[in-house]
Amino acid sequence: MRHLLSAGDLTLDEATLVLDTAKELAQVGGRSVKKLPTLRGRTVVNLFYEDSTRTRISFEAAAKRMSADVINFSAKGSSVSKGESLKDTALTLQAMGADGVVIRHSASGAAHRLAEWVDGAVVNAGDGTHEHPTQALLDAYTIRERMGRLDGLRVAVVGDIRHSRVARSNVLLLNTLGAEVTLVAPPTLLPVSVRTWPCSVSYDLDEVLPKSDVVMMLRVQAERMNAAFFPTAREYSRRYGLDGDRFARMPDHAIVMHPGPMIRGMEISAEVADSPRSTIVEQVANGVSVRMAVLYLLLSGSGSGTGN
Ligand code: CP
Repeated sequence: MRHLLSAGDLTLDEATLVLDTAKELAQVGGRSVKKLPTLRGRTVVNLFYEDSTRTRISFEAAAKRMSADVINFSAKGSSVSKGESLKDTALTLQAMGADGVVIRHSASGAAHRLAEWVDGAVVNAGDGTHEHPTQALLDAYTIRERMGRLDGLRVAVVGDIRHSRVARSNVLLLNTLGAEVTLVAPPTLLPVSVRTWPCSVSYDLDEVLPKSDVVMMLRVQAERMNAAFFPTAREYSRRYGLDGDRFARMPDHAIVMHPGPMIRGMEISAEVADSPRSTIVEQVANGVSVRMAVLYLLLSGSGSGTGN
């Protein structure tokens, strides 16, 4: 791999290589051995123009566990507030010797533009409403760990699909890995382009739940939307919230996921979020192993080459 910009760029072999490498790294570096020498001498820049808890911290932890030097850049408090462009910021960081740049930005396409400007590997850590490929990889890893496979599984992705980069990346990656994805949302929270995505669409959560092996709940991204798109919180929760009653109607083997941050009581009740069939905390832990695998494959020179 040269960059990781879109989950849709990954072939089945490449996606499987990331998941298998993450599994190996979790076993080697997870508990007893805290630090691997794998990326010693490499520099990873975390370039965050948007807020993040899980992604920013797990990329930092992943790079440090493999002995890379890490530079954390947050747009807040930087020369971005004086008008410096993304390109000039990126070139400044490159001049400091970045081998890899992890970028989160509010503009869809920012990671692709960055990849045209810098010599190092670029990892998309979320660009606007477009993609979040490492989230999809850690979700796929978590499903495979819990269910033993991905091929043929029925995955429901529920909520604000319109503004969700997680949904798009998951649809693309899970389709590559052989799962069947159904998006469930009110019509106003679906993007027009959804007709071209490799998945089914439903407006009826109660109809989809009993047929699902995996139910992935999404946050309503109020910060990205016009009030006209948004049903009232009570109405949304009544029709699309995963509460105890709906949870009871899921198959016994089915798991519940959420990429976080979650709004308890809105899209998911506390009893469901904290249930043993919820993978929310595991997803965060698996995020470190998956991001270690991505950085390793991009920066150690042992990737399989996506041609990007
Ligand atoms: N899931 C996710 O991207 O979380 P953060 O915004 O906290 O990074």
